[in-house]
Amino acid sequence: METRLIRIEEGDRKSEGALREAARILRAGGLVAFPTETVYGLGANALDEEAAKKIYAAKGRPSDNPLIAHISSFEELEPLVSEIPEEGRRLAEAFWPGPLTMIFPKSSLVPGTTTGGLGTVAVRMPDHAIASRLIALAGVPVAAPSANLSGRPSPTAARHVWQDMEGRIEMILDGGPVGIGVESTIVDVSGECPVLLRPGAVTLEMLRSVAGAVEIDPALAGRPDPEIRPKAPGMKYRHYAPKAELILVEGRTEAVVEEINRLAREQTARGRRVGVICTEETKGCYPVGALRSVGKRSQEETVAHNLFAVLREFDDLQVDCIYSESFSQEHLGYAIMNRLTKAAGYRVIHV
Ligand code: TXA
Ligand code: MG
Repeated sequence: METRLIRIEEGDRKSEGALREAARILRAGGLVAFPTETVYGLGANALDEEAAKKIYAAKGRPSDNPLIAHISSFEELEPLVSEIPEEGRRLAEAFWPGPLTMIFPKSSLVPGTTTGGLGTVAVRMPDHAIASRLIALAGVPVAAPSANLSGRPSPTAARHVWQDMEGRIEMILDGGPVGIGVESTIVDVSGECPVLLRPGAVTLEMLRSVAGAVEIDPALAGRPDPEIRPKAPGMKYRHYAPKAELILVEGRTEAVVEEINRLAREQTARGRRVGVICTEETKGCYPVGALRSVGKRSQEETVAHNLFAVLREFDDLQVDCIYSESFSQEHLGYAIMNRLTKAAGYRVIHV
């Protein structure tokens, strides 16, 4: 299949034509990748079983891993769910459109292929002009996982989508680099108390300020435990994995720098190519290995924005191992550390 890559400029007439064409592809059961404020999504008609199946095939994704249905207005929520619990309504009012996905009991309209056979459905209203326009023009909810091959870091620019999806999907809409850079926060509001399944830019602190008590899925606490089944099926897979072995080093900054330099020298002496993920504050401290800064430690937004692109860069550099500094677990740091820890396959050294 030939994949068309189309640059979209806001307010441009040619772009409006391309968006209409993309919407037609979605309605006809095809696949279109598009930008959102979090990461690029790989879209299909969420109500069309065959279209949803194509997403799994294009990504190489296990079919028990459910998809998020994206909507462009509040009215589009009701037909998808059998109930809107009070906390869900409050959270939607506070954070939609935005980087928040909520799990609701599903209606019969939503096919099991979209939800991985679950009785619940994940819904999000993205805060991105191109995404909203595309969904509105399509006139159907758009199922969209991150537009990467299963196991690769989520795409934060159209060129990442091209790397993974060229030849596999009909169209990629290039809206430039995304804003946030890590996937949406996921909260299950289908039970007694809201449960955080995946941290993101709507932070735990923000959720609690609106919904009161919010529990944390035990599977978020650490290494996957065969005894603990994550509520978000996707959380059991090794995500965001760079090709090289990634190891996180945690502790006081000076001790972290010293340990990473020790490890980098040791590996280099063994003939292995080393990559180091550092910050603006420390980038002058690493004499050995390929160095990439994820931005200022004091600006979590920048770190989140750059993280997946840096992991992909190391794939292109073909390093054998990567050592990364760690970040605070608070606010957006929780999402950053969640993605980094998973990318590292839970290999963390404390110094
Ligand atoms: O920011 C985002 O959420 C991006 C953009 C494109 O919107 N999408 C995204 O989708 O990250 P994906 O498929 O990569 O991650 C969706 C996660 C998976 O871990 C999946 O298991 C979980 O949401 N999920 C989906 N439906 C669920 C459900 N009914 N119950 C529990 N978890 C669910
Ligand atoms: Mg994903």
